Amino acid sequence: MNIEPPAMPYDFADLEPAMSRDTLVFHFLRHQRVCFDRMLAMVRGGELEALPLDELIRVTERNPAQHLLYRYAAEVWNHNLFWRSMRPRGGGAAHGAVGEHIRTRFGSYEHFAREFKEAAGAQFGSGWLWLVWRDDALEIVATSNAGTPLVRGDTAILALDLWEHAYYLDHQNRRAAYVTAFLEELVNWDFANRTLANLAVNSDAPAARVRTVTETDRGHLSVR
Ligand SMILES: [Fe+2]
Repeated sequence: MNIEPPAMPYDFADLEPAMSRDTLVFHFLRHQRVCFDRMLAMVRGGELEALPLDELIRVTERNPAQHLLYRYAAEVWNHNLFWRSMRPRGGGAAHGAVGEHIRTRFGSYEHFAREFKEAAGAQFGSGWLWLVWRDDALEIVATSNAGTPLVRGDTAILALDLWEHAYYLDHQNRRAAYVTAFLEELVNWDFANRTLANLAVNSDAPAARVRTVTETDRGHLSVR
């Protein structure tokens, strides 16, 4: 197996008080780890076992008979991005190149934050909210269930888990309070800038244009 078990980039209590230790313990051990274990059980001994995680996701997404395996694998990948999209004492206005791209498109960080919160609130049921780099542009993308931008060839700059298990212990059903805490106290713009910088190594990144889109976990798009 070429896929490493999930690992947290910080201790479970390090995001308090914005995100509780209990939330991270349950989220990591009872959700992501369970997805990892089930994925492992499904590929063990088979031809898919040798694939790296991103390739396993792309291969299984194209095969409806492997959709359950795709969902487990995508959830492992999505959560890996989500943990790194947060950091202790994070939050606040975006800085660096990502901040410049956000201001170019939205006029201000505050306008971007409002769009981001609205997109999170508009996602019906479980899913994810992403800031992605697609076709030389930043976009806010919502995916349903285990949907991941990886299968579209997008580069995820930030991930926000919109499943209720991500916030119910801390905020009950108040998703908006959770999204506010993410933006104001948790978001890791250093990670976002590193990801964008890695992309720019082999290309000149033009000014970003940002659209808000929603898509199902099978990759069908609608642009709002
Ligand atoms: Fe989750």
